[in-house]
Amino acid sequence: MATIQIRKYRDEDSEAVRDTYTLGISEHVPSSFMHMLKQPPTQMVLICLFCALITSSKSFLFPILALTLALAGARQLVVYVFNGHIDTSLSSDLKNISETYLKQKDSCFWVAEVDGVVVGTVACVPAENALACLELKRMSVRRSHRRMGIAKVLCRTVAEFTRERGFAAVVLFTSVVATDAKKLYEDMGYKKIRQFVLPELPAKIMNFTMIEYRLDLQREGKSE
Ligand SMILES: CC(C)(COP(=O)(O)OP(=O)(O)OC[C@H]1O[C@@H](n2cnc3c(N)ncnc32)[C@H](O)[C@@H]1OP(=O)(O)O)[C@@H](O)C(=O)NCCC(=O)NCCS
Repeated sequence: MATIQIRKYRDEDSEAVRDTYTLGISEHVPSSFMHMLKQPPTQMVLICLFCALITSSKSFLFPILALTLALAGARQLVVYVFNGHIDTSLSSDLKNISETYLKQKDSCFWVAEVDGVVVGTVACVPAENALACLELKRMSVRRSHRRMGIAKVLCRTVAEFTRERGFAAVVLFTSVVATDAKKLYEDMGYKKIRQFVLPELPAKIMNFTMIEYRLDLQREGKSE
């Protein structure tokens, strides 16, 4: 069985880390599109559009074509939102990972390596809106190495780092469509503390909902 090694990020990992992150986030495009289609307002708009076109054109083909175009446009909106998010991350904290994570206090970035290849990532930074907490970020594992327990080890690495520094808890944000990630965090003992829709207009249209999770760390001698 392949040996998984968790180690701190090095500058030569940059490309592999950026790729792992981009692939991981892009995976959520289909599920986000389905999520948007399941929203009652979206269904209402599509049905109204279909009915209006069928009444005005007296044709069946035209409304179907128009609906297909509307769906293609909606999917492009989802791709646009995700690409924007990926570009923002790649040009902010993932641009200079050493500077953002390794040179700052109470922050770190780790990679999971199998046979010398980077297959997973995770990071943590002081949480902006939660006192005495660190925030887990950038969790991603390459598809080729899923269900081997790599994400669990990365979660434990962050919890250990947080506990050693005397922080009370780890917090993190994920989206409702990230089903594997939600299962992972819940299995690792994280509790859902709130749910909210992102304020940007495209996210509102998609009803793109984020979940905040928290893992309270117990004092020395007690288990998580
Ligand atoms: C979520 C993710 C990091 C899990 O990575 P992983 O290394 O495959 O996870 P692990 O093997 O450590 O599995 C840990 C637990 O997560 C849950 N889990 C992970 N993948 C799952 C799946 N496909 N179906 C159901 N549960 C799943 C299970 O509870 C699993 O425990 P088990 O194997 O004992 O049942 C990975 O799927 C991923 O990178 N996804 C894309 C990026 C992403 O969503 N990142 C999170 C952003 S917040």
